[in-house]
Amino acid sequence: MADHDDSDPPTDAGTDAEQPTATDGGAAGADDVVLDPWGSSTVEDYRKLFDQFGIEEFDELLDEVPNPHYLMRRGVIFGHREYRRVLEAMRNDEPAAVLSGFMPTGDPHIGHKLVFDEIIWHQQQGLDAYALIADLEAHAARGMTWAEIDDHARDYLLSLLALGFDPEEGELYRQSENRVLQDLGFELGAKANYSELQAIYGFDGETDVSHMQSVVTQMADILYPQLDEPKPTVIPVGPDQDPHVRLARDLATRMRFFKVTEAYASFETDAGERALLAEAYDSLREDAGDEPVRCEDAAEYVAEHHHAPDLVTSLENAGMEPLRPRVRFLDRNATEGAFEALIEAVEGEKRVYEGHVDSFDLSVEDAEDLAREVEVQQGGYGFLPPSSIYHRFMTGLTGGKMSSSVPASHISLLDDPEVGYDKVKSATTGGRETAELQRELGGEADKCPVYELYAYLLAADDDAFAKEVYDECVGGERLCGDCKEQAATLMREFLEDHQEKREECEELLEEAGIMLESTRR
Ligand code: TRP
Ligand code: SF4
Repeated sequence: MADHDDSDPPTDAGTDAEQPTATDGGAAGADDVVLDPWGSSTVEDYRKLFDQFGIEEFDELLDEVPNPHYLMRRGVIFGHREYRRVLEAMRNDEPAAVLSGFMPTGDPHIGHKLVFDEIIWHQQQGLDAYALIADLEAHAARGMTWAEIDDHARDYLLSLLALGFDPEEGELYRQSENRVLQDLGFELGAKANYSELQAIYGFDGETDVSHMQSVVTQMADILYPQLDEPKPTVIPVGPDQDPHVRLARDLATRMRFFKVTEAYASFETDAGERALLAEAYDSLREDAGDEPVRCEDAAEYVAEHHHAPDLVTSLENAGMEPLRPRVRFLDRNATEGAFEALIEAVEGEKRVYEGHVDSFDLSVEDAEDLAREVEVQQGGYGFLPPSSIYHRFMTGLTGGKMSSSVPASHISLLDDPEVGYDKVKSATTGGRETAELQRELGGEADKCPVYELYAYLLAADDDAFAKEVYDECVGGERLCGDCKEQAATLMREFLEDHQEKREECEELLEEAGIMLESTRR
């Protein structure tokens, strides 16, 4: 998840969606977006995440979320990938899961609380909830010792429990102790190669092998909830983790036994070509009467209306073969037995070829379901591509980014409540130079780290309160001194309460079934 750590050098280099970012220290244009899980870049412009990386806007499905969390209502959760799949399961009471992970590199802080809250909310909505300690990653990618890892892991877990995670319903694990997870990582690793990790993460000849292994371990984390059966899974993370999400989605697909596509004839086409074939088919069918539409006629049609020479050649080669819409199952990773079982399972009119089978009666959706069903019966995983939601990073209290290594920039969940109070009191604000100007122009709540504290944490579920702070601020009725005093007091109360709950959770943690002391050294 988003650990606003800046122990790695900042990277400013960005590329387009097809060529993920390399950590090359800023060679490309400075206003490109960088998504680097181990870097320290803040995400300057969320807009670009939509355009360049295909993250979708959360706002567009907010109405479909049953009693949305305040982080959703306030736009803190701003983006997603295929979250609708999870919502649908939620609404229909079908199995679904939530999972996120934490690198135990320091104290849990208010940025991590966002993710704790997201996991807990999904658990309360009835999803299977998983939270993991990414200790292999912390050891490999950040050089943490096992003793340090144990200390931090404990702190993360206590805060997670104190905020309401139910360990009896959900599962907690640490990567290093989970053999099943590591075995899954090994299998997934067979579907990714070095060049790909290089392209996605900027790995090079100096990258150590354990760091690479921590990537496949994270891939396994993300797919772990689906080991007993395929189910929609949401991964709540900061946008810096999106490269991991994209790779996991790819690997989930690459592991599948069969690929379902639409087709019109025996030869393979891409999506663009299929659109042309659909058009040709619809147009020719009208005149064809009882006769089938032939590929050679479609060749003429396409040649006349479009520039697609390869497609025309394929159609000409197919000659008299009928052109007919169908759903195709391609054999991707299936065993011979599984392919045969699939052929057997396809009902209605079908045609079997070398490496694929075409069905003339199934819809794409039914074919997808059937392919997954057969795969699971035949011992495959049948993974659904995992979904994700993305939250904004909090601004540091001192302006700039929130960083674990700058204590004044963030509030640790372990900070003494008085220290928390003081940090808020000395935070930068979106206020004007003088009280007079502030009354006249209003404050800039949108640029104010203190307002963020209200919206992300202090106002909790009370939308009316968050709105009141905002309106009073921009309306010039609220002055920063009093506003910070109020926020600081609320922060002190929050920390007192949270730390009390942490103490009460000690016992719960002992019984939560997660190893607290590593035997590693
Ligand atoms: N890489 C994440 C981080 O930097 C931690 C992590 C490990 C994780 N496995 C995960 C996050 C699975 C989400 C899902 O903090
Ligand atoms: Fe920020 Fe409050 Fe000042 Fe507005 S009044 S700028 S919210 S500190």
